[in-house]
Amino acid sequence: MQHQYIQDFAKYKDGTEITVKGWIDKVRNSKTNHFFDFRDGTGFTQCVVSLDAVGEKAFEEAKNLSLESSVSFSGKIIRNERSLGGYEIQVSNFEIYHLAHNFPITKDDKEHGPNFLEEHRHLWLRRRRQWAINRVRNQLIMGIHEFFQQDGFIQMDAPLLTGSACEGTTDLFETDFFGQAAYLSQSGQLYAEAMSMAMNKVYTFGPTFRSEKSNTPRHLAEFWMIEPEVAFATNESNMILIERFIKHVIARVLDKCKFEFELLGRDISQLESVVNNDFPQVTYSDAVKILNGDLLIDGKNAIKLQEQDLENAKSLIDNNKNEIAEREKAIKAGMKKGARKHNEQVIAKLSSDIKIAEEQLRNIPKWIESAKNFKQGDDFGSSDETVLTRVFSTPVLVYNWPAKIKAFYMKEVEGQPDYVKGVDLLAPDGFGEIIGGSERETDINILLKKIKEHNLDQADFEWYLDLRRFGSVPHAGFGLGLERLVRWSCDLHHVRETIPFPRRYGHIKP
Ligand code: 4AD
Ligand code: MG
Repeated sequence: MQHQYIQDFAKYKDGTEITVKGWIDKVRNSKTNHFFDFRDGTGFTQCVVSLDAVGEKAFEEAKNLSLESSVSFSGKIIRNERSLGGYEIQVSNFEIYHLAHNFPITKDDKEHGPNFLEEHRHLWLRRRRQWAINRVRNQLIMGIHEFFQQDGFIQMDAPLLTGSACEGTTDLFETDFFGQAAYLSQSGQLYAEAMSMAMNKVYTFGPTFRSEKSNTPRHLAEFWMIEPEVAFATNESNMILIERFIKHVIARVLDKCKFEFELLGRDISQLESVVNNDFPQVTYSDAVKILNGDLLIDGKNAIKLQEQDLENAKSLIDNNKNEIAEREKAIKAGMKKGARKHNEQVIAKLSSDIKIAEEQLRNIPKWIESAKNFKQGDDFGSSDETVLTRVFSTPVLVYNWPAKIKAFYMKEVEGQPDYVKGVDLLAPDGFGEIIGGSERETDINILLKKIKEHNLDQADFEWYLDLRRFGSVPHAGFGLGLERLVRWSCDLHHVRETIPFPRRYGHIKP
């Protein structure tokens, strides 16, 4: 028999007979009703199996439907504002596919802990938050293609097995290519540059690999990168493109993923402000002054803001502790079950906010030290990016970087050979770098010099140098890390949740 999908429920009038096939997401049993939160992959709905409707035998059988059991339910669909997804199905009969015994993930993500969840990624994917994240990821991907396709870009596929390094030789995964050394691609950029001389506006969308031994919340060993490359472009036009692009994809997820953001508890006003405000552009050198507390943005001093955050964290801890003590006292004195439950929930939230504030108490003094002592020429660490972006409410474009901390292909700033026309987009609220890009060097002599300085083998790059020998033009592009974008959009602590099966330092299974 044909079945229906939850995502199409709006099409059906109340009382229509339908069938859904999926999994049990949550169970509440009473003497006369089983209430199931039910997931078919396209959405969530409530299915009610009542003793009156199905009879004693079937009602007993439905009692066996445990978390993650697979089942098909048939019955009347009814709008119900209070149920998850806005509908319920009054079940008249059902068919069990498989009873799941003791599904291992029953509690909150926080209670299980990240290691357990990562080891059970194949099952963790079924939980509501993961469902929401993967749908946001899907809409971001659609938004990315939509933006570039509407703007006249051609999608190209760059090779994944490469013969030369793009982003330096330190984090290459080496492999054997018929007896010859080859590397998993760090970036499709060099190939996109070649293609843009043939097709003009192009973009890649594919997996990239870095063997950095970084066990941080924002590093993966395998991640998906989107790399546009544009002929007859400069770093100035590059920055305009980055801003238009990010606004487009964020506007799209705001439009398409309301329910998902609600499930995730994402504060969408922050994303709305991204769509509605200009992205500030600051030079690297000004960014250093901001970090040192010597340059104010809208009257805001980066160091003072951190000191204020520290004070706020301290008073939050005091206030919450007092409130917890009061509520606990009231509970002890005795109250009705409902009120008690409510109080316990409030206490749990107050305690988890204390944990966050305690982490700030540990971190912020270190961040302040690092920011105050930051020297012109250094590369930003993740805390520096946090401190820097804290003075802005939107993503910020940082451009004109010291040459020695950037890749060989970036174009020198006129009259300042120690600086290159690179640009990073830093996302606010501590998310940091999500895009890196640049105008590309076109002077073949400078490139030859840089290839040497970076200890690269010129022979590997002859094909790339040909692009400067035949009809060379100014050009620019950038790379967006998809998982970094998902992490920021969904406001996730760790990048492990942004891709179905994360590959990162020390983690290759499942
Ligand atoms: O800044 P990156 O290294 O720049 C490039 O690869 C250039 N070839 C891009 C270009 O100009 N076409 O990397 C670009 C982005 C970063 O901003 C970050 O979002 C992401 O890729 N990224 C990572 N994401 C997850 N894990 C990692 N280890 C990442 N390394 C870079
Ligand atoms: Mg970078």
